[in-house]
Amino acid sequence: MKKIITSFFISTTVLLAQPTLKEAYKEYFPVGAALSYINYKYYPDEIYEHFNSGVHENALKWESVQEEEGKFNFKRARSIVDFAKSKGVDKFRGHALLWHYQVPDWVFVDDNGNKASLEKVKERLTTHIETVMTEFKGDIYAWDVVNEAISDKPGEQYRNKNDVKRDASGWRQAVKSDQEFEELLAHAFKVAKKVDPNAVLFYNDYSLTVPSKREKTIKMVKRLKELGAPIDGVGEQGHFTIPEFNKEELEKSIKMFTDLGVQFQITELDVSFYAFNDQNRTYKEPTKEMLNKQAQVYKDIFELGRKYKGKVTGITMWGMADDHTWLKDFPVFGRKNWPLLFDEEYKPKVALEEIIEFKN
Ligand code: GLA
Repeated sequence: MKKIITSFFISTTVLLAQPTLKEAYKEYFPVGAALSYINYKYYPDEIYEHFNSGVHENALKWESVQEEEGKFNFKRARSIVDFAKSKGVDKFRGHALLWHYQVPDWVFVDDNGNKASLEKVKERLTTHIETVMTEFKGDIYAWDVVNEAISDKPGEQYRNKNDVKRDASGWRQAVKSDQEFEELLAHAFKVAKKVDPNAVLFYNDYSLTVPSKREKTIKMVKRLKELGAPIDGVGEQGHFTIPEFNKEELEKSIKMFTDLGVQFQITELDVSFYAFNDQNRTYKEPTKEMLNKQAQVYKDIFELGRKYKGKVTGITMWGMADDHTWLKDFPVFGRKNWPLLFDEEYKPKVALEEIIEFKN
């Protein structure tokens, strides 16, 4: 009798076990996470098994693969892709080809130390895209061809050439007008499509749920299409916050972008405990109340992903677990934050359990 009861419990447990995240969403879209070269090997299989898509946190950015002109180094980027694949992460996103940040200064300077001509900059961009995409052809299915070109400032379309360091765009400084800038972006998309006609090509940015920035981005997507750019998708990075997340605006963005005939992904998802401009250090540890609020934000996002099945084609987390997140140093250095789906001890958080357990 005892034996029968035991086996009943075992089989019930097996039957009731929650599916992994990737299993729960297999009919909808791939679920991914960013992998850092610092710790991608530390994560247990119990975390890897939830994801079927990956992206490099930093290892594929320009400064990582071509720090010096013509000297490409793919060692780190390659090892992450191969390792992830061995853990069942069989899809990968490529991040990012044209971005104003984490790109070396030499790209915008000529041999005499002067500002490089547009022709020179364009030639370097072409070589970079061709070399990087060729290296990962077949391994990477989607690329952030352009990242963060749109300006956050009212009345300004593209990130301005007059800004200083972090916000300046060497790309925007290399051209004379918005029109020339758009042509440069369109060129990047055309080169990318030529290298890998099967790749899905994205424009990627943050705050695309903010109406003013969304409008500017829609205008840009239309312009790029007019210029013949093969743009396939728009990625909202998804650096959301518990206090500010707005489900209605996210839904509007999904509708408005996909109405343009492009797909929509959330590409760098994390959900901060703090509003963007909050510089306080309110939380010493994640309270139950905050974790539940965070779970609600995650539920809203994944619910929209399911509702727009076929249009939302991926959700990617910006990290594996709360032990490693850029939000520990941004915007307040050394402040704790718990934005991801696994905690610092690699245990599943309530948010993970709730997005897996959906009814519709
Ligand atoms: C942006 C970039 C990412 C990353 C994050 C912060 O969203 O697209 O590559 O740098 O900022 O970690």
